[in-house]
Amino acid sequence: MTWGELPPRVTMPVPGPRSRDLGSRLSRVECRTITRIGETGPIFWSEAAGANVRDADGNVYVDFTAGFGVSAAGHAAPAVTAAIAAQASKLMHALGDVHPADIKVLLLERLAELAPGDLSVSILSANGSDAVESAWKTATMATGRSGVVAFRGGYHGLGFGALALTADRRFREPFTRQLYQGIRFASFPDAADEGGAAASLEEVRRHVLEARNGADAVGAVLVEPIQGRGGIVVPPPDFLPGLRRLCTELDTLLVLDEVYTGFGRTGRWFACEHWDVAPDLLVVGKSLGGGLPLSAVIGTPAVMAGWPASEGEAIHTSTFLGNPVACAAALAHLRSIEEAGLVSRAEHLGRELRERLDGMAGRRGVAGARGLGLMQALVLEGEGAAERSLAVAEAALRRGVIVLTEGPALAITPPLTITGSQLDAGLGVIEAALASV
Ligand SMILES: Cc1ncc(COP(=O)(O)O)c(C=O)c1O
Repeated sequence: MTWGELPPRVTMPVPGPRSRDLGSRLSRVECRTITRIGETGPIFWSEAAGANVRDADGNVYVDFTAGFGVSAAGHAAPAVTAAIAAQASKLMHALGDVHPADIKVLLLERLAELAPGDLSVSILSANGSDAVESAWKTATMATGRSGVVAFRGGYHGLGFGALALTADRRFREPFTRQLYQGIRFASFPDAADEGGAAASLEEVRRHVLEARNGADAVGAVLVEPIQGRGGIVVPPPDFLPGLRRLCTELDTLLVLDEVYTGFGRTGRWFACEHWDVAPDLLVVGKSLGGGLPLSAVIGTPAVMAGWPASEGEAIHTSTFLGNPVACAAALAHLRSIEEAGLVSRAEHLGRELRERLDGMAGRRGVAGARGLGLMQALVLEGEGAAERSLAVAEAALRRGVIVLTEGPALAITPPLTITGSQLDAGLGVIEAALASV
């Protein structure tokens, strides 16, 4: 079996001596708020390919996270690394908004082809948070209204703009006074919650109407089609189509944040295609760059025309905008996803994954599963469910599977290339970990 397709193989303690040493050195040179260093982790990654990660002590893991959802075509996908090497030796950096790299045009053309509806005009950036902020600025320029309706449980990043749109108090509290106050939050309905869509849509309507004549009138409704960091929450089937209709009726832009769900993860190129909904602005990031930092907001020509034409001093840009190496990586990654048929693979393998997870429902403290494609969660229930899910993730790590938790949910979002036997072995580890805590 080749590296990248290996099952878990743990031969040293987790974390082992090398990871522990790196942890203690890191604790002296990195701000303590970034990495939690303790008895159970972190492990330090030293190599990754396909769905495998090797840590500094030589343990081999199966990665059920795809590196925060980034490595859709697998870690270090050969076509991506080759494109990066070729581009890096040819043109590493250009003048993004002044004299751009030639390859930026190819990527923007590809995004226009892939994006649903008539979304075809983009602004590139580096992180999801940046692209969310580009979307919000665009909505303000296009509508003249800066207010936004976002959703509780949503996650859009931690830059000051994106943070204002993220409801979670843990992230907001130290900075509350520095955040724009014109954001209103509505509840995000769960597919299991009958009547949830109608109640949520009513709340959105009320927020938009209440703000209508104030300084914070609502120009956009921002939503993840499936809440990712909120715990892989899939809305009822009538929610997104209803939201699309409501936004049109209220003359408000619909902004879909597909930073997590975009580029095949849910079994469609974009999750909004499950509901046949096209937004006015689509935000993408994570897997776009195939492992390099790259994000974008893609809009309709009409909405993007809300921005004035540049007269030489772009009013919205950054040093690395359209970095040629990131553009080359993205083009190669998108080609890999397409050529390997990874979008339909995510759908099929996702169905198998879901059956296995559904089969775990009813075990001690397991409520059930939810998700679409290879974006699934096993949800624990009962008192202390969030602590237990963390304990399960730690026990899984010790057995060679990397999995992240979102509250009581274990999020399972592997590379779309994960082999059937790796998925099988990884799920066996999750079952053993569940039984152990
Ligand atoms: C839906 C969504 N939007 C935005 C972001 C923020 O992206 P970044 O961390 O790259 O700024 C994330 C990150 O997890 C996300 O899941």
